[in-house]
Amino acid sequence: MRLDKFLSVTATATRSEAGKAARNGKITVNGIPCKNASVHIDPEKDAVEYCGELVAYSKNIYIMLNKPQGYVSATEDGKDKTVIELLPEKLRDIGLFPCGRLDKNTVGLMLLTNNGELGHKLLAPKSHVSKTYGFKCENILSDDDVAKLESGVYIAGGYLTKPAKIKLSPSRTEGEITITEGKYHQIKLMLEAVKNKITELERLSFGPLVKDEKLQRGEWRYLTELETEMLEKHCQK
Ligand code: URA
Repeated sequence: MRLDKFLSVTATATRSEAGKAARNGKITVNGIPCKNASVHIDPEKDAVEYCGELVAYSKNIYIMLNKPQGYVSATEDGKDKTVIELLPEKLRDIGLFPCGRLDKNTVGLMLLTNNGELGHKLLAPKSHVSKTYGFKCENILSDDDVAKLESGVYIAGGYLTKPAKIKLSPSRTEGEITITEGKYHQIKLMLEAVKNKITELERLSFGPLVKDEKLQRGEWRYLTELETEMLEKHCQK
């Protein structure tokens, strides 16, 4: 693999940054400065250092993002800003995609990865990956509404939702809802099915991942080794 490609797929630098760093003597391969970023290296065997740091070769990249309002969960969009635009340039062109869809106005936990197989497994309906959302709604939810939402309501196209779990706050206009599927606008439509309306929605967890409270809206970080392990294990089930 070309050295500049290696630095790009490991999200170390863009190809042009890699070329510049090489010319400036900031890259070594097996301890020897390499002035040309187009040379071929063996990612499994060669030790590449970029600005003095050893570059770990990992084919799969996992990112946790705290999605703000106003961004769409897509890699490209002719009209709106996409969640990819919240990442630095070196991460924008390496095949990362949002794993699952949050509406433009929904905020919170979003996983981005370049691992298509894992993404596919997490999103497959038969995987029943649970997702918890914090919500606020316009009107008070009665016990009857909660019972209906928990046992299943009909949404678009006559689809009957699978059992859900609701934790309601004392005000009864906010709480947490956990679902194990991901139909388009699912929570919004579920609340509409009991004659209510979502006013705020935030994803708090996705499978084994829990939103990092330290991440401000619009901020991101790589998954930790433990989170990555949990996620990969979750997909082996
Ligand atoms: N359900 C919705 O209605 N919107 C989302 O963004 C996610 C789940």
